[in-house]
Amino acid sequence: MLKSGSEMSLVCLTDFEAHARERLSKSTWDYIEGGAGEGFTRDDNIAAFKKIRLRPRYLKDVSQVDTRTTIQGEEISAPIGISPTGFHCLAWPDGEMSTARAAQAARVCYITSTYSSCTLEDIVATAPRGFRWFQLYVQSDRQLNQKLIQRAESLGFRALVVTVDVPKVGKRRHDVRNQMNFKTNLLLKDLQSPKERNSMPYLQMSPIDSSFCWNDLSWLQSITQLPIILKGILTKEDAALAVKHKVQGIIVSNHGGRQLDDVPASIDALTEVVAAVRGKLEVYLDGGVRTGNDVLKALALGAKCVFLGRPVLWGLASKGEHGVEEVLNILKDEFHTSMALTGCRSVPEISRDLIQFPRL
Ligand code: FNR
Ligand code: LAC
Repeated sequence: MLKSGSEMSLVCLTDFEAHARERLSKSTWDYIEGGAGEGFTRDDNIAAFKKIRLRPRYLKDVSQVDTRTTIQGEEISAPIGISPTGFHCLAWPDGEMSTARAAQAARVCYITSTYSSCTLEDIVATAPRGFRWFQLYVQSDRQLNQKLIQRAESLGFRALVVTVDVPKVGKRRHDVRNQMNFKTNLLLKDLQSPKERNSMPYLQMSPIDSSFCWNDLSWLQSITQLPIILKGILTKEDAALAVKHKVQGIIVSNHGGRQLDDVPASIDALTEVVAAVRGKLEVYLDGGVRTGNDVLKALALGAKCVFLGRPVLWGLASKGEHGVEEVLNILKDEFHTSMALTGCRSVPEISRDLIQFPRL
């Protein structure tokens, strides 16, 4: 089949951004792209990566480059995964089910959101061999949390990702103006009772427990065997507390600039978090990863793996499952090139020496 002009030009992640925009309604596009406040952090996530310069080493045998690594002891094809994002049915009819199949095919970790528009059971059934973590927004109803976690655990999710940066949803001006009024029949099947499913006129976020704090982690630890990973840590103080409370991982993240504006870019917060945890737990990053060089830079500064939010939704909106697979494969291929061109044959060879200091 002959590809259309715009499809032939999908060679990098940001090509998918323009492609997706053509296919989505204005309110959905605004919801996906938007940042909180004035959007400084949202933009800085990308700009900060571009200020980092690389120090390549040559005349090393890079005829074989191995991009594989592990997270929480499990092998993935490259240090790239899918960040939790809600409501995939806004981007593609069968939503998270397409995302799950693409993640399984690419052999990466898919962090499945509490705000998924498909049930966890359907997501697992469509991609039974996929490697997944479950992202929990702690609900005010403790029993609901317990039920969600037990379901995730029995369905084979391998870790619990607790998002810490949403004690309240950030102010996103476009969403306020658009009144979050999505013209689709959107359901949060894991959270809504059948009665609510029929009565919800448009998307609403379920109430997140804003009283949840460090001391409540022991309760979570008492009800699950899964490793716990905190998503949204940005400071050395919180990183030290994460170690103290014996969680297994941290995702350095500012929620794609959608929560508190004016916080540092994720890549700029990474160094202090990595230093504070002193190797006691794995540190990951999301926010602004768009190229293979970005992946390499995050790893050189101490991240074990990076995750993608919006680019996955661009792939999904463009071509469903195949679009997500293309996004993942393009980034994996770029990362392979970045490794070869800096003289890294395997992921453990990626070190701080690749980064030019002082940074600009
Ligand atoms: C998100 N994010 C998010 N995070 C989370 O923990 N649970 C969620 O349900 C969502 N939902 C969500 C929806 C949409 C549309 C976006 C864009 C983001 C944040 C997400 O996991 C991640 O932190 C950022 O998207 C990473 O930044 P990039 O890759 O989008 O630049
Ligand atoms: C968001 C929520 C779903 O960022 O986390 O839109």
